[in-house]
Amino acid sequence: MKIVALTGAGISAESGIATFRGAGGLWEGHRVEDVATPEAWEYDPETVLEFYNSRRKAVAEAFPNAGHIALARLEAKHEVTVITQNIDDLHERAESSHVLHLHGEIMKARSTCDFPRVMNWGARDIVLGDLCESGSQLRPHVVWFGEEVPEYMRAVPIIAQADVLMVIGTSLQVYPASGLVELARPGIPIYWVDPDSDMAGLSTAGEVFHFPEPAAGALPGIVDRLLESQTGRPE
Ligand code: OAD
Repeated sequence: MKIVALTGAGISAESGIATFRGAGGLWEGHRVEDVATPEAWEYDPETVLEFYNSRRKAVAEAFPNAGHIALARLEAKHEVTVITQNIDDLHERAESSHVLHLHGEIMKARSTCDFPRVMNWGARDIVLGDLCESGSQLRPHVVWFGEEVPEYMRAVPIIAQADVLMVIGTSLQVYPASGLVELARPGIPIYWVDPDSDMAGLSTAGEVFHFPEPAAGALPGIVDRLLESQTGRPE
């Protein structure tokens, strides 16, 4: 079966990486527009770099949890693609083979010249004065509000061909990622794993099965069942 897992900040919560919305959410201490927009980069690049340097450090110190690891285990039997809004590399470190990052990757840097190059950067800080070969300042390889989401078009056919969709730890409040769920084929099983029961963002023609639990607790059991299942349904 083709299984697609659409993941958000919630799957990394139990690895110690704060989610964006809700109590303790990342944006509480920082206004989004101060740190995650092209305008912020233009007016105060140092603050933007500091913000992402601390995100990078938190990711480097974190480890994949039982949720990430369970998803990787699904590959023993199924064709699995993880489409994540997360900029961390915990799916890769849990050994998921096909991970598409809609909002970029914090462990990569990108040049800001006319033909931007993406490079593996690792856990170290990016500071003003870190330049590409042609002399442009490096920035984090992440998508800011108001920027294109280049990987979106790759995600569309993957979701549209899924036999099973898992929606894990995302509030589905950020467009266009939130719209992907609507592209699932009518009637397919949708495993929605999120302790929150607010379905506002979940608009789909699939059949939704809600697991109102933390991902690290729920996913190992769900994955065990999907490894046995002929139909992809939870019963
Ligand atoms: P949010 O912070 O908006 O939502 C996190 C979701 O995870 C909420 O629905 C929580 O209820 C749920 N959650 C919390 N703990 C959980 C756990 N242990 N297990 C499972 N679910 C849990 O994060 P995202 O939806 O990922 O974009 O946010 C989307 C985008 O908004 C981010 O990628 C980022 C941000 O602005 C950019 O930076 C472009």
